Formats: sequence, C-alpha cells, structure tokens
Amino acid sequence: MIGVLVSGGGTNLQALLDDGLPIVAVASNAAGAGALARAAAAGVATAVFPLESYADREARDGAMASWLAGEGVELVVLAGYMHLLTPPFLDTFSGRIVNVHPSLLPAFPGARAVEDQLAAGIAESGATVHLVDEGVDTGPVLAQERVPVLPGDDAESLHERIKSVEHRLLPRVVRELCAR
Ligand code: GRF
Repeated sequence: MIGVLVSGGGTNLQALLDDGLPIVAVASNAAGAGALARAAAAGVATAVFPLESYADREARDGAMASWLAGEGVELVVLAGYMHLLTPPFLDTFSGRIVNVHPSLLPAFPGARAVEDQLAAGIAESGATVHLVDEGVDTGPVLAQERVPVLPGDDAESLHERIKSVEHRLLPRVVRELCAR
C-alpha cells in the first residue's frame, strides 16, 4: 500500500492514481496544495502537516510518518514534495521512499532544477526516479529518461515536457517496486 507526499498541483499524483496503483493516503505540508483535491476526488484519505503546527521539523515528520503507517502505508512516493525529510520519517520508511525529480540526477538537484538547467544552457534535460536518503535529491537512481531542451523553451514549457515523461516513468517504477 502506497502513501504519497505532495506540496503542489499533483499531476504526478494523478498519474499514479490513473495507473490504478494502491494509494491509500496522501499527506501534504501545505493546506492549499491542489494535489489534496485530486486525492479527495479519488476517495483517498488526506492529511495536512504544516510545519507551524509542530515544535520542529522532526516532530512534524514523526507525526506524518505515524499517520501514514497507521493508514497501512508500506511504500512512500514523494510527488512534488518540497521539504527535506528528517530521520523520524526516513527511519520509519527506510529504503522505501522514492522521489521524482525534473533533471538527470546527479546533475541539477534542488528546488529550482528547471530554471538552473535553462540558465546553464544545456541541450538535454530529463526525469529521474530515485530512492530517498537524507540529502537533497541524492540516493540511488532507479530510472531516468532524457528530455530535449528546445530553442525558445522557458521554465514552463520545459517543465511541462519533463512532467509528461515523469507521468509515464514514475508509475512504471512504483509498479515495479510493488512487485518486488
Ligand atoms: C515535478 O516536476 C517533480 O519532478 C518535482 O516537482 C514537480 C511536481 O509536479 N519534484 P506535480 O505537483 O506532480 O504536478
């Protein structure tokens, strides 16, 4: 059973839902995340864990991990989740957390990966699905696919092209992990 962490619009969450994967819980750090509406529309349990409501990041992450575990979650997918995870979360789901990132990691980690790639003038970007550790977009790579950067691209057009690849790559990798 899969839990998904989200912060944004949730197009990757939607791809996982549309693929028919067993998603039982969706958690967010942000109450306004559009992804929460997608989860609710699919009848999936949701919960919000705003940092302001907890003493510190570890306390928030511990509460989030406990909620997911209580919902029966065995595998966690970060689908546009924009906070680093701390040991109370990482230890609960050790080796069972995957992230999707809009670059060919280890190149261009971080929250501004698409903008950074355009600024660097590279001709080829990509999408990566990887296991999560305590670092910023580090952890063993599970799958990658290349995406061209086209003349005239801005951050929005390039990100949309990358996301359309993510929407194929992420469900495929998650399905393979479920079958293990
Ligand atoms: C994706 O590009 C993902 O790689 C990155 O954040 C974006 C999330 O988009 N980590 P969405 O919320 O799934 O639409």
